[in-house]
Amino acid sequence: MKVLVVGGGGREHALAWKLSRSPRVSQVYCAPGNAGISAVAECVDIGATDLDRLVGFVREMGISLTVVGPEDPLCRGIVDRFEKEGLRIFGPRASAAELEGSKIFSKRIMTQYMIPTATARSFEDPQRAREFLEGADFPTVIKADGLAAGKGVFIAASFQEACEALDTCMAERKFGDAGNRILIEEFLQGEEASVLAFTDGKTIAVLPTARDYKRAYDGDEGPNTGGMGAYSPSTALTSDIMDQVVGQILVPVVHAMNREGRTYKGVLYAGLMLTKGGPKVIEFNCRLGDPEAQPVLMRLQTDLVDILEAVLDETLENIELEYDERPACCVVMASEGYPGPTKLGHRIVGIDTLEIDEELQVFHAATEHAGESVITAGGRVLGVTAMGATVAGARDKAYAAASKISFEGCQMRTDIAKDV
Ligand code: AMP
Ligand code: GLY
Repeated sequence: MKVLVVGGGGREHALAWKLSRSPRVSQVYCAPGNAGISAVAECVDIGATDLDRLVGFVREMGISLTVVGPEDPLCRGIVDRFEKEGLRIFGPRASAAELEGSKIFSKRIMTQYMIPTATARSFEDPQRAREFLEGADFPTVIKADGLAAGKGVFIAASFQEACEALDTCMAERKFGDAGNRILIEEFLQGEEASVLAFTDGKTIAVLPTARDYKRAYDGDEGPNTGGMGAYSPSTALTSDIMDQVVGQILVPVVHAMNREGRTYKGVLYAGLMLTKGGPKVIEFNCRLGDPEAQPVLMRLQTDLVDILEAVLDETLENIELEYDERPACCVVMASEGYPGPTKLGHRIVGIDTLEIDEELQVFHAATEHAGESVITAGGRVLGVTAMGATVAGARDKAYAAASKISFEGCQMRTDIAKDV
């Protein structure tokens, strides 16, 4: 069958790569894709939120299954639109994707259904928010309600910093309408972990666990990013904690969404803080994490098409996820200045000197062809992903490979998976 991956980052490269290995797949397409993805898929120049053209392309090419990588098209209703056209597509409908699209909605669900999370208050009026902050404990967390590409969360150490965050969202309107409403939330302490699961609204199939490194610089310093690296499995998520995550978080939220008439089908991603009082939800995402997807999909052995179809057909109960016991680690090579403004168009050298095999993949996050060369085309450029006998082995292999790749101004953390 022919499949289409929507998106063009590192996660979509990992998805396209995994799908290209399925014996059931004859051709993978990717819209818009990137230079690396073009090695495993035919890239088409259609934006991930250009729903009309995507529908037209799928019709024209006779594509049987579409898989959506990023949250934007999901929150804008790509799944609803495809379903209306009678096309098969993997991901939650807009009403379910709101779990990521609105942090206030998501908080309401968690509070109402007693899913452990930070306590929070929502505000539309900046003056009211300010008054509330006058009596708040610090640090406190300010979040824009809507999608802000991972940049709408502020950890404020003081009243002053909190007011600056408020201004960024509500006065400067840095995130547009996404910042019309905000949450002020309790600051949670602990180790972060991501749990991803497939669900068809009835059954939950948990993916291998992962840990993501969100801060830009070593030692978890610097601004929040989309993620500078990840490894799988997370060593912090013991089977005891996983039981709590499934029983107290995943099962109740899938149930809650059914009760709300917003049945959730797709990948459900729970970003967690492992606090002294147990795991608590920081956020839900409605898709695979990036870069978590890179190590996780590298380890997944079950045919991805079988899983995606089981979700669509609500037969996930018949699927047993199998994955490689060996850990995997992904190290992100980013452009200088990321997550702020960056200079693009630098030539990338060294990838072709690597021996790419089952245990080493260079997933492209933002690259383009320029003549014979491959050049940088965004903040996160590459995700060098390796498998090893241990987390340390996987990490060393990923860093050894990354050290052979270079481009001007490359910014990379040197401590991904070092604290394991
Ligand atoms: P989010 O986009 O909601 O995942 O938030 C981005 C990052 O901000 C998270 O990965 C955490 O590191 C941090 N964060 C968000 N909410 C909280 C919280 N309530 N307490 C502590 N840190 C948080
Ligand atoms: N790596 C975090 C995310 O995908 O949201």
